[in-house]
Amino acid sequence: MLFSKKIEPIALDIGSTFIKLVQLKGTGKNYSLVKYGMIPLPPEVIVEGAVMDANRVSEAIKELLTAQKIKTKEVVLSVSGSSVIIKRVTIADMTDEELAESIKWEAEQYIPFSIDDVNVDFQKLGPGAAEGQADVLLVAVKKDKINDYVNLVKDAGLEPVIVDVDAFALANMYELNYGVESGITALLNIGASVMNINILRDGVSIFTRDITVGGNRYSEALQRDAGLSYEDAEKIKRGETVDGADHEQVTGIMNAVTEDIVGEIQRSFDFFRSTTGSDMVGRVLVSGGCAKIPGFIKTLSERLEITAETVNPFTNIKVDPKNFDAAFISESAPLAAVAVGLAMRRIGDR
Ligand SMILES: Nc1ncnc2c1ncn2[C@@H]1O[C@H](COP(=O)(O)OP(=O)(O)OP(=O)(O)O)[C@@H](O)[C@H]1O
Ligand SMILES: [Mg+2]
Repeated sequence: MLFSKKIEPIALDIGSTFIKLVQLKGTGKNYSLVKYGMIPLPPEVIVEGAVMDANRVSEAIKELLTAQKIKTKEVVLSVSGSSVIIKRVTIADMTDEELAESIKWEAEQYIPFSIDDVNVDFQKLGPGAAEGQADVLLVAVKKDKINDYVNLVKDAGLEPVIVDVDAFALANMYELNYGVESGITALLNIGASVMNINILRDGVSIFTRDITVGGNRYSEALQRDAGLSYEDAEKIKRGETVDGADHEQVTGIMNAVTEDIVGEIQRSFDFFRSTTGSDMVGRVLVSGGCAKIPGFIKTLSERLEITAETVNPFTNIKVDPKNFDAAFISESAPLAAVAVGLAMRRIGDR
């Protein structure tokens, strides 16, 4: 096309503890890493996904852009949490054009918000169980939420070109790095306040859910029960020692929170099985900061009696060792899962 230029947007995953930036060159199965970095946010700036201090987030984004020497203006971002509703529904089959027209009215009965307050999107999954029906993945996101996040990047001087949701970014990252595997695989992204769950059957997403569970649980328990500061709690979470902290006590607190979170995951898997009538989850891939909590993956795999692994979103991405610090990449990789999935998106790609 005459006026189209090939844009490789930057991706920003604006989490409550870290903003992650990834830029990828290429398409299909041929990506290479162009930019990668992250910047921490203080705990009170974004709380449970709600932007409390927009100014400080935009300032942090600007700082990250400067540090990474970013020239690109186009940005892909994502939203998650309770403002996002993803549902697999069966409706009368129609063309994509007809569906685009009527999806808003179809969606009304499936979402707990007023239809005027949400943006609705859809993806056809295939034919429904009965003749003349189609299975459709319905996505509704509260306009407020989109506006808040879009304004953050606009205030940092960027131009938002795609707003995705965490769960789909995870699925894209997974397909790139792990291919399409048969069986039931659960992708978990466990950050500070939100856990995204995306369960795939033979590579197709059949259940998604965001629940408010994450690494903050550890911080809160350590602060409350061991009287630690936020900073010291962060150190304990990383497995570092803190002067004056009772090793046995903090280990006990950490393990109890892990058991709690694993219990929540177990309940979500049970819910998944009872609502979809599906087989057991066979494999779990974990991303997000909680994948790095000492003992987390081990406990998860023991309690659920399944294979649990930490995600590496850079497995199938070319990384030039001259431009990137290999130690930083491997150490931070689980936190970059959503940002990598976002960085795979191209304008007009679906
Ligand atoms: N090396 C590490 N070891 C243990 N815990 C870590 C490590 N790095 C980060 N964390 C914890 O993981 C969480 C941050 O992970 P992540 O960046 O995935 O969350 P986020 O995207 O900022 O949060 P959310 O999406 O929930 O708003 C924090 O609770 C942090 O304390
Ligand atoms: Mg996150």
